[in-house]
Amino acid sequence: MTDLTTMPITEVVEKSELKHIAFIMDGNGRWARQRNLPREAGHTAGAANFKTIVRYCKRIGIQCCTVYAFSTENIRRPRHEVEAIFRLLLSYIEEAGSEKDIEFRFIGNPAALSENIGRRTKALEDVTRGRPYRLNIALNYGGRDEIVNAVNTLLAEGKQKITEDDISANLYTDTCPDPDLVVRTGKEMRISNFLLWQSAYAEFYFSDKMWPDYSTDDVDEAVRDFAGRSRRWGGLDKDETK
Ligand code: IPE
Ligand code: IPE
Ligand code: MG
Repeated sequence: MTDLTTMPITEVVEKSELKHIAFIMDGNGRWARQRNLPREAGHTAGAANFKTIVRYCKRIGIQCCTVYAFSTENIRRPRHEVEAIFRLLLSYIEEAGSEKDIEFRFIGNPAALSENIGRRTKALEDVTRGRPYRLNIALNYGGRDEIVNAVNTLLAEGKQKITEDDISANLYTDTCPDPDLVVRTGKEMRISNFLLWQSAYAEFYFSDKMWPDYSTDDVDEAVRDFAGRSRRWGGLDKDETK
């Protein structure tokens, strides 16, 4: 048995075949409240940390990363908070094209948020297409909305009978493999409408840390934990099939 605690992290990623990691970046508001700051300050700190974590995942060789930035339900929040999140997003998009080697994809329905957001997200996707690492930003995203949207696309094509492959191929994540590991920060143990279809066999990892405090060492911890798990996909472990 190889020692997962001492093996270099890039090797752990490779050996465990961790191709897609997804983050539910939760806890920005509580992080701010704990410091007597407005919730918006938590989103600012969270956005800065998001850049660090995404770059780190690329550095350790994870091909695809998905982050939950804004759910279809988050629009229920006070207008000033929603607008602060959109401002952070737009300022990130301004600089994101220079993020080396990353192909951006916005999953969800960003264009419904505003004409400006729709245009800029599309422009970033166009300019970064074909780059080797993939970053999916879930924006105005809901797992249920995604499945309904896939079914409606298939109906519009005239399909009479729908298969699992049909649905998978019409999700916003399209060519990305399903997430191997879904990490949620901020203590809650729920999925909050994230990647419902794709996470059927994902491994889940919950961290008590609020997102702005979540560090690259914490990523290592989650990745090593993932590598030590036995994914059976409904079958049996190799040594039990003899
Ligand atoms: C996650 O942090 C970011 C978004 C949902 C946009 P929250 O804002 O949900 O932070 P908490 O859960 O209230 O602490
Ligand atoms: C999930 O966090 C959405 C994002 C991280 C963008 P929420 O804070 O919206 O989830 P709930 O309301 O606690 O389930
Ligand atoms: Mg939250």
